Amino acid sequence: MSDAVLVVYVTRYGSTQEVAERVAEVMRENGLQVDVKPARQVRTLEGYRAVVLGAPLYIGRWLKDAHRFLARYQESLAQLPVAVFALGPTRAEEMEGPDVRAQLDQQLSKYPWLKPVAAEMFGGRYDPATLRFPDSLLAALPASPLHGAPSSDARDWEAIRAWAKALYSKLS
Ligand SMILES: Cc1cc2nc3c(=O)[nH]c(=O)nc-3n(C[C@H](O)[C@H](O)[C@H](O)COP(=O)(O)O)c2cc1C
Repeated sequence: MSDAVLVVYVTRYGSTQEVAERVAEVMRENGLQVDVKPARQVRTLEGYRAVVLGAPLYIGRWLKDAHRFLARYQESLAQLPVAVFALGPTRAEEMEGPDVRAQLDQQLSKYPWLKPVAAEMFGGRYDPATLRFPDSLLAALPASPLHGAPSSDARDWEAIRAWAKALYSKLS
């Protein structure tokens, strides 16, 4: 059996990929062998000793590829240590409320067989200039919480580093 850990990510605008790469980098610094892949490119979990899955929240849900990945690899994932993270609130002050974590817990509740050894919410990044349809339309709606919001980046790299560092013992 390989000693490698697989960090799998789903992303629409790249911010979750950057977090996944940072998580992998920290785990490598701690002596682990780590592969990083977008969920769509994963063909097998054979040979991996643990998996980290990261995906952003859009309208309260993980992107579809995260759900597809969990469904497709359920059998293997149920046997492996798995850590998960979600990106979400794009302003640091939004990270405070209990509703933030509830979004991740709600996604996890769809997978009772999944018992993550760690599950964390991180702030996300928002840039209205890069939005594609239908996100651009959604953000333009006056009733949308994104309406008129400036670009922001609430990713706390220190928190991400600390979380990734703590994974070493949890995934062993
Ligand atoms: C249209 C849209 C809807 C979003 N909905 C949510 C949401 O329901 N909850 C949340 O916490 N963050 C939400 N976000 C913030 C994203 O999760 C955040 O921007 C994340 O960093 C995006 O990740 P990505 O760059 O990997 O695609 C939303 C962002 C957009 C553009």
